[in-house]
Amino acid sequence: MCGIFAYLNYLTPKSRKEIIELLIKGLERLEYRGYDSAGIALDTSDSENITILKETGKVKALQNQILNKGYSLEFDVIHSSHVGIAHTRWATHGVPSAVNAHPHRSDDDNSFVLVHNGIITNYKDIKVFLMGKGHVFESDTDTEVVAKLMAHIYQQHPDLPFRELVEQAIAQLEGAYALCVKSRHFPGECVATRRGSPLLVGIKSKTKLAADSIPILYSKDAQKADHRVVSVSAGLQIPAGDFPRVESTSQFGPLGEDKEVEYFFASDASAVIEHTNRVLYLEDHDVAAVKCGILSIHRLKRGIDESHAREITTLKMEIQQIMKGNYSSFMQKEIFEQPESVVNTMRGRVDFEKGTVVLGGLKDYIAEIRRCRRLLLIGCGTSYHSAIATRQLLEELTELPVMVDLASDFLDRNTPIFRDDVCFFISQSGETADTLLALRYCKARGALIVGLTNTVGSSICRESHCGIHINAGPEIGVASTKAYTSQFISIVMFALMMCEDRISIQPRRYEIIQGLKMLPDLIKEVLKVDNKVQELAKELHQQKSLLVMGRGYNYATCLEGALKIKELTYMHSEGILAGELKHGPLALIDKLMPVIMVVTRDPVYSKCMNALQQVIAREGRPVLVCEAGDTETQAFCPGNFLEIPHSVDCLQGILTVIPMQLLSYHIAVLRGCNVDCPRNLAKSVTVE
Ligand code: AGP
Ligand code: GLU
Repeated sequence: MCGIFAYLNYLTPKSRKEIIELLIKGLERLEYRGYDSAGIALDTSDSENITILKETGKVKALQNQILNKGYSLEFDVIHSSHVGIAHTRWATHGVPSAVNAHPHRSDDDNSFVLVHNGIITNYKDIKVFLMGKGHVFESDTDTEVVAKLMAHIYQQHPDLPFRELVEQAIAQLEGAYALCVKSRHFPGECVATRRGSPLLVGIKSKTKLAADSIPILYSKDAQKADHRVVSVSAGLQIPAGDFPRVESTSQFGPLGEDKEVEYFFASDASAVIEHTNRVLYLEDHDVAAVKCGILSIHRLKRGIDESHAREITTLKMEIQQIMKGNYSSFMQKEIFEQPESVVNTMRGRVDFEKGTVVLGGLKDYIAEIRRCRRLLLIGCGTSYHSAIATRQLLEELTELPVMVDLASDFLDRNTPIFRDDVCFFISQSGETADTLLALRYCKARGALIVGLTNTVGSSICRESHCGIHINAGPEIGVASTKAYTSQFISIVMFALMMCEDRISIQPRRYEIIQGLKMLPDLIKEVLKVDNKVQELAKELHQQKSLLVMGRGYNYATCLEGALKIKELTYMHSEGILAGELKHGPLALIDKLMPVIMVVTRDPVYSKCMNALQQVIAREGRPVLVCEAGDTETQAFCPGNFLEIPHSVDCLQGILTVIPMQLLSYHIAVLRGCNVDCPRNLAKSVTVE
């Protein structure tokens, strides 16, 4: 979790005010990743030391603190070259507080100051070791050991260059991290590195860059699996002369005499897009260092990625895409974007005239997938629900066994995986730790790995053999909405691709493809129910609990609807398979218990009607989500229904989920909850 942002200006004079504003703006863009506390570090006005400013709560609170300090921060002082680092936190170790907020420092002199995203799993060993050496800790975080470890190494080896010093420190770390480090001993330099948490570098230069890619430098002993010099338990002594040496030096920067350049380090592209569209994504174990305006990338270890350069890519994302527009929250905007986002998911892939579906990232693997033993769909939260929603169709169109698993449970069970399994990892962010670990587990066992994400360049994308970008556009609200419908459609497209040469299935394929074509218009229709949903929210928002029932293709809507209600409104809510009603949940029903029932005209319609009648017989007064014009069903709940248009049975779940998204949104607003940033949660869950 957490958002990291750093800004380095080299020979591009900026006032302290401009630098602070830039850092704060970067954090605002990343706030969806965590909002327990925020902090920045920048040089003092005389550039002799480092100032750290931190505050609990959201970035706004930090901004207010800065405004209150006002004059003492000497806003007008100009820094010709400068490094500022910033962080917005989602706490894993230590409560949200100013002292646990990042940046963390090595000592009272702020010798080494850093921001961290991830968890250092061996921090206790390192802490014990460093305390034994006299270091005094001020926070409860795992992160602080990293800053103090760097100071310790510096004390022993003051001649080590900054990058090599950082490399020595990270060689001692276990767990996951993205780190950005600055030091008063190395003014104007910044070192950033990652393992398991995302990090990219944005580059802004007036002049043409010297190259479109940056060569990677390997240590001579880069083949070693892990460059741990001496283990912590053995005393963490880092002997001089035993450091990995660089084979050559690289020069990367703007061409010509004019060496002005600005670099941005960020957890994701939304924080840099307003400054530059030229970015490069760091890989695990990359160490990026900027010195005298020159960026170099170094690796201690040869990993899965054997490329010898990091490409500089041009972002296609528009700034408008990450702004709220006229909506009151990102979540509301994202719900209303669904008529377009589903088109973007299908764009260039489904030919509605010819009835063909081509997923470019999978086409070379389809033959292999058809021969597989079984399909496994793995994800967390909403992404897992998209697998539940499409499982039945996948089974029907592929005639393969389909297993659907929550990533955490999958790992807990040490599930048997075979070389001829095909494993799908579904994740909006592409960074969810549980999903990524499950991916690595399956990859190590030889299965084919298919990634399904919304984030190009994310860890899941990079570590998959092949995959589908769902192309829903940036999703900023913590509650996933448009990503769900796009994940749903992506899996439907895959199922259609799998059965393209099966004659007997062609009428069904045709029906589904025509259903996909209609979807954008049908979603627009569903969105018209918004006012009615708002009225319903007024009736429900003071309730303690809400049950959501359905079965068949709509079961996933119940689970997803209940998850949305829980995470946004903090009300208890449960998605119940209507078939299970009589095995327990029916006991909850009385005239006071709020119930929503999803009943559409699909193969389980009559079974759903049984459940509806059982609820009514116990004096329940359910609200129906049902098809427009289905007066026969509506007659059971006069005036108490939300209408959605009819679609093909297997796509109906895309439509039935939207009233649930809207309902959770409106209840959250009425209860005064923060819609985009629900308490205790974060957008990207990069911890196990
Ligand atoms: C959705 O509203 C939730 N915030 C959450 O369940 C989310 O879907 C889950 O954490 C998985 O995230 P991912 O899709 O980025 O992997
Ligand atoms: N482990 C660090 C902390 O608790 C970083 C948290 C994270 O990235 O989620 O402060």
